[in-house]
Parts: sequence; C-alpha cells; structure tokens
Amino acid sequence: MANDRIFNFSAGPSMLPLEVLNRAAAEITNYKGSGMSVMEMSHRSKVYQGIFDETQEKFRKLMGVPEGYKVLFLQGGATMQFAMVPMNLMTKTGKADYVRTGNFANAAHKEAKKYGEANVAGSSEDRKWAYIPTQDQLTLDPNASYLHYCSNNTIEGTQWQYVPEAPAGVPLVCDMSSDIMSRPVDVSKYGLIYAGAQKNLAPAGLTIAIIKEDLAGNEMPFTPAIMSYKNMIEKDSMYNTPPCWPIYMLGLMCDWVESVGGTAGIEQLNIKKANMLYECLEGSKLFQLAADKDSRSFMNVTFRTGNDELDAKFASEAGKKGFSNLKGHRSVGGMRASIYNAMPIEGVEALCDFIREFEKNA
Ligand SMILES: Cc1ncc(COP(=O)(O)O)c(C=O)c1O
Repeated sequence: MANDRIFNFSAGPSMLPLEVLNRAAAEITNYKGSGMSVMEMSHRSKVYQGIFDETQEKFRKLMGVPEGYKVLFLQGGATMQFAMVPMNLMTKTGKADYVRTGNFANAAHKEAKKYGEANVAGSSEDRKWAYIPTQDQLTLDPNASYLHYCSNNTIEGTQWQYVPEAPAGVPLVCDMSSDIMSRPVDVSKYGLIYAGAQKNLAPAGLTIAIIKEDLAGNEMPFTPAIMSYKNMIEKDSMYNTPPCWPIYMLGLMCDWVESVGGTAGIEQLNIKKANMLYECLEGSKLFQLAADKDSRSFMNVTFRTGNDELDAKFASEAGKKGFSNLKGHRSVGGMRASIYNAMPIEGVEALCDFIREFEKNA
C-alpha cells in the first residue's frame, strides 16, 4: 500500500483518496504561488474567493444542482441542521413529518419536537431499524411543513433505495450525511438536502446544505442569524468565517469524483464494492448481515457473528492486519465496514479475503 497506509473502514471522519491527500500535500505550504497555505488565507482574499467559487461550481455540476437552488457551506455538523431545519421551515404549518429509521433520523426527530409538532410518518423500530419502510408504509400529512428522512443510516447499515414521495406541496428534506455524492441524485425532488462532509466529501468541519431558495425567509423570530438559511444565502455562506480548509478539500474531492466518471461512475464503483462484500458475507456460515436485503446500505455494511467475544476478536485481529475501525457502533455492537467513495476496491477485496480466512480459523 502506498505510504504504508492502512485500509480505514471508519464511519466518519473517513478516509480520503490518496490522490487528493497528495495534491493537498503538494499545495500545503504555498498554494499556487500565493506564498501561503490555504489554511492561512483570509476568507475575504481574492485567492480564497477563487477557491470558494470554483468549489461551488464543481459541486453544483457534479450534483446536478438546478437553478433556483443555493449551495451553502455551513458549520455545526448535520446535528446543527437537526435544529436549523425546523427553525427555518416548520413555520409554514407548525408541524412536520419525520421518518424514524435509526439513530440520526431519530435524533433529528427528537430535536424538531422542540420547535413544533414533529409527527412520525413511518418507523422501522419494530425490527430494530433493520429495514427501510416502503412508500405504502408511510403515513403522510398533506399539511406538514416538510417531510424529513435520512437517506443512509450510518450506524444501522440501511439505505433508502427509493426517494419517498411527499404529498403535493410538501417539501422533501433529507439528511444525506453518509451517502452524499455516492450516487446520482435528482436534486429537483428535494426542498432541502444537508450533509456533514466528513464521510464522502472532505475533512470534518464543513456542512453542506442544498436549499430551494424560495423555502428560505420564514424562520422563527428567535432563530440565530448564523442559523438562518436566508441570512446565509444573502451572505453567500460568508456571514462569518467559513470552514476554509474543508471547502478547499471538497474542491479537490470533486475533481477526484469527476475523474472516476462523476456520480454515475462512483455509483458503479460503490455498487461493485458493496456487492462484493455482501456476497462474501452471504456465503459465510459464521457471519450474519444486520439489514434486510432490499434495505442494505452501499456505504456501511453491518454484520455480526452473534457472539460478542468473537466479534471483538474479529475487530482486533483485523486491526493487526491493517483493517481499522471495523468495530460496530457502541449502540449496536457487531461489526461495520464503512466503504465510502474513497475506499478502493482493493480494500474490499482484502477485507473479503480476511473474512474468509477468519472463518476458516474460527
Ligand atoms: C446520517 C448522519 N446524520 C447526522 C450525523 C451527525 O453528523 P455531525 O457529527 O456532522 O453532526 C451523522 C454522523 O455520523 C450521520 O451519519
């Protein structure tokens, strides 16, 4: 492996492509003859404004963001969006629909309850979040201010393989933190998409919101200026100092995704990697998969042996062989392999070999 790097299966912050890191390294002390690092620049300088504008443009192009939508570069993580969404959007009718499919979807719902009537439009709690409800299983309110769901459940390892349809006039809001830019998305179906960048896009510190501009401007009167979409739209994400370095890194990551064929190209790679790992685990007598087949995540593969000691042994032995962060989230146990955009196919191949070897010796 180049530079003695290990295969890092962390759920986030996560690995970045070596090409991206090498490019950042080459530019780290003197960005394009400016005599300084991007980390040292004023966000109001011409050179930084150039990086910012270029990154916006590249991101919009890759994601196919249509006219009428604004891309915001924010801070506070997806967790801040759990509050920012209701504060800004729930004023329309005072209520909103939430689909509960796991830890983060549920956290968003819990936070929203502070600002109005946050109703449960669907839930997979009955089977420990192992599946994604079908459209028929959703109970949708035509008077909701919006419908919120989380497209990929990072901890549980489930992913929506369809875009839920909201009633006419109800904007769709999605937490895409752990699968943004991993596959093509029709942005026009959404009122708002938000994501923490630290899994598929950039280092931690940047939160992206793609918002239909006409939804902004109805925030609750106590909404802090820093949490007002309208304010951030008007100030082009520079109401205060933006996360300059992660924005720059996002630009490099966009170039890399473009180089592998854009979102359609990266989707093919992601499908290949996930299918390889799922097939390996399906062929095993030792390991069981946590999620229903039609709800499986192409980003976070969750599995277990059913024996906590053996699970711990697996994670520990894997660590010694250069596969890091395979222990499942503390709330669910078992194992989790996060195979975001940057995980090379060789990493998944090597993990499959290790899984088979571990089973043989178990
Ligand atoms: C789907 C999802 N939503 C929200 C969060 C919380 O993100 P942050 O730590 O950026 O606030 C995470 C973090 O892992 C996540 O995976």
